[in-house]
Amino acid sequence: MSAVLDVSPTTAPARRPVAAEAVPAKAPAIAIVLLGTGVVGGALLKLLNTPAAASLRLVGAANSRRQQTDPTSLAQRGLREQLNREGAPRDNASLFAALDASGAAAKVIVDATASASLAARHAEWLARGYHVVTANKALAGGDLSGWRALQAALAHGTRYGDSATVGAGLPVLSTLRRLRTCGDALLTLEGVFSGSLSWLFNQYDGSRPFSALLREARQLGYTEPDPRSDLSGEDVARKLLILARNAGFHLGSDEVQVDNLVPAALRTLDVESFLARLEELDAPIASLHAQAQSRQCVLRFLARLNQRGHARVGLVEVPLTHPAARLYGTDNQFALSTTRYNTQPLVIQGPGAGPEVTAQALLGDVLALG
Ligand SMILES: NC(=O)c1ccc[n+]([C@@H]2O[C@H](COP(=O)([O-])OP(=O)(O)OC[C@H]3O[C@@H](n4cnc5c(N)ncnc54)[C@H](OP(=O)(O)O)[C@@H]3O)[C@@H](O)[C@H]2O)c1
Repeated sequence: MSAVLDVSPTTAPARRPVAAEAVPAKAPAIAIVLLGTGVVGGALLKLLNTPAAASLRLVGAANSRRQQTDPTSLAQRGLREQLNREGAPRDNASLFAALDASGAAAKVIVDATASASLAARHAEWLARGYHVVTANKALAGGDLSGWRALQAALAHGTRYGDSATVGAGLPVLSTLRRLRTCGDALLTLEGVFSGSLSWLFNQYDGSRPFSALLREARQLGYTEPDPRSDLSGEDVARKLLILARNAGFHLGSDEVQVDNLVPAALRTLDVESFLARLEELDAPIASLHAQAQSRQCVLRFLARLNQRGHARVGLVEVPLTHPAARLYGTDNQFALSTTRYNTQPLVIQGPGAGPEVTAQALLGDVLALG
């Protein structure tokens, strides 16, 4: 998203802009219910305390176990921690009743979870007149039937804010849609769509075992608690599906070829047992690295879509002149070749993960509804 926000702590008011002691007489322009108060949802709650969010009213918030619709409780800074201790049992109906009661012109459900069961309801919510803003990829990046249900629901005039689902708000989906609106068409797409895999292979030069880097990445919070979620390539595949579908390729989830970096013997272990055997990843990666190095190449975990709609994610060798060979940190990169960007690709690059930028993408999508 391109919204520029001042999130400096010195400008933050003491309280979130919700109805607290006195209920404002005027209905807000935008009312929101937040599902998920984890890393991303927690960062969004902080942004709701900034002047940029002054036109929004939070009327409900929930984690997987509890929820809150009381204005005074919602206004507290410690709402996330409070929900871990107390609150009403989960019940979407009463959250949505709070949205209805707000009288807001735009009623928005923000999904900051990874819940497949919540994602499966997005189309129904849109059809009922709620806008949905999501960091959750499970619907648009899931089964093709879910994607089709989503497109059908959007015919009702409500909107789906999905900037946070790919590149944590880097302007990739918006650019793709804008090109299509202008009659341009995506020919090929290639890039690094995972912040954690970007960091791992930007760092890896054979001098330290891959397992040591993986442990460090986990400690830095770059990987999921179970790093197999990153190493499996499934998350990258979901992002590739979202991009491809938005470009007009109606791919099924089984049509993306995914090269899983986790050896078969480690896939079904519990997390602790897997973490105890990380060294088993070292030899295969070291061997691939040595082969790449002998050809003046480096390893990158790339997502690729070709002109025939063939989609693949996996570890590949790229020459040192390749754009993905010159990435830093947790950068994501998206190289789009289109009918009009056909001599050189249009490249979008930057931090593609992290709670603040992801929450900002959600806020930007919400504000765009005003
Ligand atoms: N972290 C990033 O940098 C990043 C970047 C881009 C996109 N995303 C996406 O953003 C989403 C959230 O990521 P995260 O890192 O914030 O995950 P997280 O820290 O694990 O938080 C997930 C939150 O969802 C809640 N939740 C799960 N099921 C729920 C339900 N049925 N109703 C209400 N709340 C429910 C959890 O509740 P409990 O607290 O009770 O468990 C938790 O608060 C994911 O889809 C992720 O892929 C994350």
